[in-house]
Amino acid sequence: MRIGIIGAGTMGGRYAARIAAGEFGSDLEVAGVADLDAARASAAAEPLGVEAYSTAEELLASGGPDAVYIATPDGAHLAPSLAAVEAGVPFLLEKPLATSLEDAEAIVAAVERAGVVAELNFSNRWNPPFVAAKQAIDRGDLGEFVTLFTRLNNSIGSPTERLGWAGSTTSGWFLLSHCLDLAYWLHGRRAVSVYASGTRGVLESRGVPTYDSIHAIVRYEDGTDGSYESVWVLPDGMPAPVEFTFRYVGTTGAATMDTHEQNIALASGSRLDYPGTLDWTPQRMADFVAAVRGEREPAVPIVEGLESTRILVALHRSLESEAVEVI
Ligand SMILES: NC(=O)c1ccc[n+]([C@@H]2O[C@H](COP(=O)([O-])OP(=O)(O)OC[C@H]3O[C@@H](n4cnc5c(N)ncnc54)[C@H](O)[C@@H]3O)[C@@H](O)[C@H]2O)c1
Repeated sequence: MRIGIIGAGTMGGRYAARIAAGEFGSDLEVAGVADLDAARASAAAEPLGVEAYSTAEELLASGGPDAVYIATPDGAHLAPSLAAVEAGVPFLLEKPLATSLEDAEAIVAAVERAGVVAELNFSNRWNPPFVAAKQAIDRGDLGEFVTLFTRLNNSIGSPTERLGWAGSTTSGWFLLSHCLDLAYWLHGRRAVSVYASGTRGVLESRGVPTYDSIHAIVRYEDGTDGSYESVWVLPDGMPAPVEFTFRYVGTTGAATMDTHEQNIALASGSRLDYPGTLDWTPQRMADFVAAVRGEREPAVPIVEGLESTRILVALHRSLESEAVEVI
């Protein structure tokens, strides 16, 4: 299967290199790389010996890809998704689905009209601690859902150095979309209202006009709730750039997942690091490939992105209104 890459930044570049290295199976190849930034497209394509394109349309028109992986910035998911639908090419779209309800609904409608296989990359559904929690919940070990707390934070280098477009998104879209999706996957409740509070100043002073932190309380349809934290200004000296904690409480048990330490503390000289050891992308890709081949239903159908998008749209309204917003 030949996979085209749309958006050759951190994620697209990483997926392209891993596909080419055979890490996701020896039967996958990179069909070509497209990026509006020609230098980025070439930098990712040349070492792999594949063609570089400027636009998703050019890559899709080349006839090469059997499927595409779309890893463009949070607010730029609509156009490449519609291009893939138009070409009838299955696609794996990075989270969040979109940063507006209009874009999100347009992608869902196009996919459903065309019947193209399309999945969202809410990749933490394959993250081993969350898989174990899901199994325990589905077995009934924790009883009925009561409440949850989750924290997904990054060190400041993520919005100031790694993401050139951090000012056009928020830690809500970039980070909390994962947490809101995991919560929905684990407990299956629809959200009905949200209150959010945010702080600004540190990132603005560094030329990135977005929130430094967001705290939100989400209420679900049956009176249960969840507390969500995302901070985007933690020091770069942290042992790992991502801090991720999730506590799910049920009537008869609780699950606490914490991936920050990655099961290793590596001390070297004066430096302590938690190098990444949890790698679930091969299984995630295997499930997408199986869906493209018609061997299984899409694991995260595009339509499932609507729930987190609805919550996040209301959450951002609440950040402005300082009031509880109905979803
Ligand atoms: N699943 C995960 O765990 C995970 C982790 C990090 C990022 N992401 C998501 O992946 C997406 C990409 O993030 P990233 O960190 O790779 O960003 P990035 O800035 O490193 O890369 C994005 C690339 O897309 C290109 N681009 C922009 N618009 C385009 C278009 N219309 N067509 C083609 N190329 C276009 C940019 O030039 C850039 O090279 C984001 O939506 C982000 O939230 C997901």
